[in-house]
Amino acid sequence: MIHDSLSVSYFSSPALPKADGQDLTRAVELLHHRAGILLGEHKKDMATRTLGLRAHHAGLGSVRDYLNYLEHNPQADEWDHFVNAFTINHTAFFREQHHFQILAEFIRKRRKPINVWCCASSSGEEPYTLAMTLHDACGQNDTGISVLATDIDTQILTQAKKGVYTLDRIKPVPPEFLRRYFLRGTGRQSGMAMIKPVIRNMVTFEELNLVSPSWPVSQKFDAIFCRNTMIYFDKATQARILERFARLVKPGGLMFAGHSENFTYLTDIWRLQGQTVYALA
Ligand SMILES: C[S@@+](CC[C@H](N)C(=O)[O-])C[C@H]1O[C@@H](n2cnc3c(N)ncnc32)[C@H](O)[C@@H]1O
Repeated sequence: MIHDSLSVSYFSSPALPKADGQDLTRAVELLHHRAGILLGEHKKDMATRTLGLRAHHAGLGSVRDYLNYLEHNPQADEWDHFVNAFTINHTAFFREQHHFQILAEFIRKRRKPINVWCCASSSGEEPYTLAMTLHDACGQNDTGISVLATDIDTQILTQAKKGVYTLDRIKPVPPEFLRRYFLRGTGRQSGMAMIKPVIRNMVTFEELNLVSPSWPVSQKFDAIFCRNTMIYFDKATQARILERFARLVKPGGLMFAGHSENFTYLTDIWRLQGQTVYALA
């Protein structure tokens, strides 16, 4: 996500370092290697601007120096800024609504504890939708239900943890859920709504990179939601992640993919049940 304030400073500052074709190729490779994200051709202009800005903010005179710095300092905080600048965080409450109906029916037949993993949680709409769905499906009882929400983007995680949204963002939430699970802001908070603690407390947010060799996840899940994220990865990366998911589901567990993601020809570990919901084969 490009930050508006930074974009403005780019346009008003002609002295920013400029990325050339070689820098861009290298940046694309670094991003792919670090986060699995494949940057499309149409993102090249945005990438040029972003690299100039990041080099400037890091106090480096050229984009080449900036990329050298990243390459030689794999633990540097700047890596977060670099990756955060290229993630696409588009999401919504009750996005692909049919999945939540399927989850509610599925979960009613399962034993507690119920654990769900939302592995690319973006600004929080998806994990909070999961928590509301589970709370409702379990007779408005939150004991023994948890949602692990993870994402690579540290900035979006900070935003997600707040659980505060504009009234426009919460439009897809059914009225009954709005009444039960949201607090309306007043005074300086008017125009905003906040997720109630009963739902917030069910969700734990953590940083997790899906392409990193180890995941700090010790539990197993009844369901894994990995929606609208694999599309940014190549097939080999997708296959590796699907294999790792298989080891993290409880017997009979499900995996939910995004509407445009089809893993049928990629793996025989997962079997498509319909509506982009998969079960272990
Ligand atoms: C388009 S959003 C999808 C959000 C949500 N799952 C949905 O369907 O509405 C993609 C999310 O994937 C995250 N992401 C990208 N690469 C990732 C990686 N390697 N590991 C974990 N999350 C990643 C991004 O930061 C972004 O928040």
